[in-house]
Amino acid sequence: MRVTIVGTGYVGLVSGACFADFGHHVTCVDTDAAKIAVLQRNEIPLYEPGLDRMVETSVREGRLDFTTDLKKPVADADAVFIAVGTPSRRGDGHADLSYVYAAAREIAMALAGFTVVITKSTVPVGTSDEVERIICEMRPDADFTVVSNPEFLREGAAIQDFKHPDRIVIGTDNARARIVMDELYRPLYLNRAPMLYTGRRSAELIKYAANAFLATKITFINEIADLCEKLGADVQEVARGVGLDNRIGAKFLHPGPGFGGSCLPKDILALVKTGQDQAAPLRIVETVLAVNDARKRAMARKVAAAVGNLRGKTIAVLGLTFKPNTDDMREAPSIPLITALQDFGARVRAYDPVGTEQARGLLADVTFCDGPYACANGADAVVIVTEWEQFRALDLDRLKATMASPVVIDLRNIYPAREITKRGFGYHGVGHPLDKG
Ligand SMILES: NC(=O)c1ccc[n+]([C@@H]2O[C@H](COP(=O)([O-])OP(=O)(O)OC[C@H]3O[C@@H](n4cnc5c(N)ncnc54)[C@H](O)[C@@H]3O)[C@@H](O)[C@H]2O)c1
Repeated sequence: MRVTIVGTGYVGLVSGACFADFGHHVTCVDTDAAKIAVLQRNEIPLYEPGLDRMVETSVREGRLDFTTDLKKPVADADAVFIAVGTPSRRGDGHADLSYVYAAAREIAMALAGFTVVITKSTVPVGTSDEVERIICEMRPDADFTVVSNPEFLREGAAIQDFKHPDRIVIGTDNARARIVMDELYRPLYLNRAPMLYTGRRSAELIKYAANAFLATKITFINEIADLCEKLGADVQEVARGVGLDNRIGAKFLHPGPGFGGSCLPKDILALVKTGQDQAAPLRIVETVLAVNDARKRAMARKVAAAVGNLRGKTIAVLGLTFKPNTDDMREAPSIPLITALQDFGARVRAYDPVGTEQARGLLADVTFCDGPYACANGADAVVIVTEWEQFRALDLDRLKATMASPVVIDLRNIYPAREITKRGFGYHGVGHPLDKG
């Protein structure tokens, strides 16, 4: 089967590499010529574990290639995915669909033979209808159908998620499209990944509703963590006790500095806007957004509560990306946290295993360091913001020796409080009884 992916970012590149790995012939297209040049040199323009080897193998075996020109690959394709970005629109927070519609127009002009056009980008309900209208208007002769197939992969575990999804959601009522989609995903179906066929609008909404539910779970446990601190309870014990209930589940019950990343904040904002436009406001989700926004700067107040007046103090921030195993800095909680620390007068040193280059462009007046111990050098406190594996087993004696005062603010609760306090550190986790005010 011939597949063309328009938009070679996280989702486009991972999907393209995985479809090629299944044996399909895949062309990934992007308007960013520099990105395509990097891929054509056999380099990967983003950090995702395992992706380099998978791309290298499929390119070598002739199943995967990259181009800036979509005409031929779209004309030859059985399936064309739209996987371009859908960021927040400046000014009003709705999803910016200009990239999706531009891609639809370019695809329209190149279509030849029956083609399934698939919106994989996260798009508001009705966008696939509009993609269909655009293509019909530009190419009334074209033989095509538009399918919604939202993506649920997580950065940092993207290949595993793509190859072992909880479900594959496919929004279409077109029988010919169904044959193509079944063939595309057949290897996963053989792995018993459930294929959920729905209406196109339902498929579009499933993606937003799922993200909103996950964000609600995170925000819920964050507020319970705050309450634990007031009451002297331990949020990790509470989360375990709650999560063992099968109706609730243990995942996404880890408190932290608030959710960020390339998806949750913008998708939830877009869903809130859709609800308001439809006079069906999503009040719970609106509150989740507001609570989460406030939380990021509140984490700086937590640092101040642990260290005292921050003016002139040096704070070492470990972890900058919004989660481990990615270099993605989009909407990372570290950004508002660091800005707030600087507003309080602190000097900030920072270290991230792979995100430093991305972070440089987003953060001013930060001293970027080569490792966790260099970062902690002379610091009045270390703040763990992202739970990279390498921060889980730091040499605590070495860390202590290099710091001006041994205080750890662990915003991911990766250290057992008793162990670290025994080593002479002041320790402040999230939702921890030691933080009882
Ligand atoms: N990143 C994730 O973890 C994730 C997970 C699930 C869903 N999504 C959704 O998938 C979509 C893509 O996200 P992403 O993180 O991969 O975005 P990204 O910003 O990493 O990549 C988008 C790519 O599309 C390219 N592009 C834009 N217009 C184009 C056009 N007309 N033709 C060809 N290429 C074009 C850009 O140059 C860019 O390389 C978004 O809607 C996002 O919400 C992302």
